[in-house]
Amino acid sequence: QQTLYFSRHGESEFNVIGRIGGDAKLSPRGRSYAQSLAKHIQALNLPSLQVWTSTLQRTKATSAGIPAPQLHLPELDEIWSGECENLSYEELAERFPKELALRDREKLKYRYPQGESYIDVMNRLVPVLTQMECETNVLTVSHQAVLRCILGYFLETPPEEIPYIHVPLHTIIKITLQGYHYNMETIKMPI
Ligand code: F6P
Repeated sequence: QQTLYFSRHGESEFNVIGRIGGDAKLSPRGRSYAQSLAKHIQALNLPSLQVWTSTLQRTKATSAGIPAPQLHLPELDEIWSGECENLSYEELAERFPKELALRDREKLKYRYPQGESYIDVMNRLVPVLTQMECETNVLTVSHQAVLRCILGYFLETPPEEIPYIHVPLHTIIKITLQGYHYNMETIKMPI
């Protein structure tokens, strides 16, 4: 039975201050999640476990303690917000009010200036998703927008709803193929 695991990186210093994008380090809570994640995954004793992360330091640090082969894939990097990288949502509202309004209206198609849209992220994920479908016991450690796109694919979420899928921090998401459909379970980790 095919089983895939997913997690956002542990809380980053940017999550704490509400900034988007960037390549911030884990916060102390994020580091503590990395430890509980490694413990939990190790205890599952999954045969031929693999870990796939983005190339950003917050995902690599989150999975570093897991004894399994690790792949770092740029396709799993967070949505690129171009000129809006590193800004807080308040700064976005001040400096790019029109952009924010456009994004609110059509979050799926909205592309950041010099950056990406959710549709762009979905397109760059296609080769990874095709590969993932052929694997079992892969733990993917990635980012909020990317995980929304991946889960939306496996759970057949209507596209317009994908940018709003709830993917909380410090939670392991497990999907299991049953017939032609995936069932999802979430495991909230104590940190
Ligand atoms: O806030 C964390 C984060 O991963 C940002 O880096 C990213 O821009 C954002 O989430 C994506 O979520 P949303 O599309 O809801 O802004």
